Amino acid sequence: ATALDALGLTITLTAGPTREPLDPVRYLTNHSSGKMGYALATAAARHGARVRLISGPVSLATPAGVERIDVESASEMLEAARQAIADSDIFIGCAAVADYRAEQYNEHKIKKTPGDETLVLRLVKNPDIVATMASAEPRPFVVGFAAETRDVEAYARDKLERKNLDMIVANDVSQSGLGFGADENAAVLLWRDADNEPGRLELPPQSKATLADAIIATVVARFHATQRE
Ligand code: PMT
Repeated sequence: ATALDALGLTITLTAGPTREPLDPVRYLTNHSSGKMGYALATAAARHGARVRLISGPVSLATPAGVERIDVESASEMLEAARQAIADSDIFIGCAAVADYRAEQYNEHKIKKTPGDETLVLRLVKNPDIVATMASAEPRPFVVGFAAETRDVEAYARDKLERKNLDMIVANDVSQSGLGFGADENAAVLLWRDADNEPGRLELPPQSKATLADAIIATVVARFHATQRE
């Protein structure tokens, strides 16, 4: 049976990597395939939500019934997210947003300098999309992800607090067969409840499809709980 606990809710998600251009032919990016975010969008639609998926460049089909907005850079992703703030009950940031972009975009292809064995690229910090969503007023229920390779829960709790999120999905991306690019993943969900008690739910390794279903069920339940608090 499919739970329709998200009926009437609008859920906006980000998925995939961002692509930060260096020149007309080159860019900086990462290994996100978009599978986790697309599985979440699919699950959210199955739970009855109206789903808006802000997607970085990936090679995945758009899930049925999902509105997809394609973007490339972190700046474009932020702009699409901003436009969705007022019309989102829940925002889930699953995208692997590049932390930095080139300080200067080169209009023309960067040339090799004869005799130079090194090239220095100067990078500047990208805006933080989930933190921007969480500081809007009024704001949706904001869920972030934390991709960590060590001290997973401690770093994730720190991101939950620092970015003022309602919930964070922590995943250990150092485990082979899980995380970036894989078909399976595992996660620990962390949140603060009304009495400031730490909430925690551990989800063992499983397909991204079943994991996404459990994440959406928990996010929607917490969303409804905060509406009552
Ligand atoms: O796409 P797949 O191949 O299926 O892999 C899934 C995944 C491993 C990419 C996914 O499960 C995941 O962990 N996504 C978040 C990746 C990430 O960038 O984590 P982070 O710990 O660096 O960032 C923390 C949070 O801040 C994330 O919600 C991220 O979307 C957000 N962020 C980060 C930087 C930035 N400039 N803006 C942001 O909103």
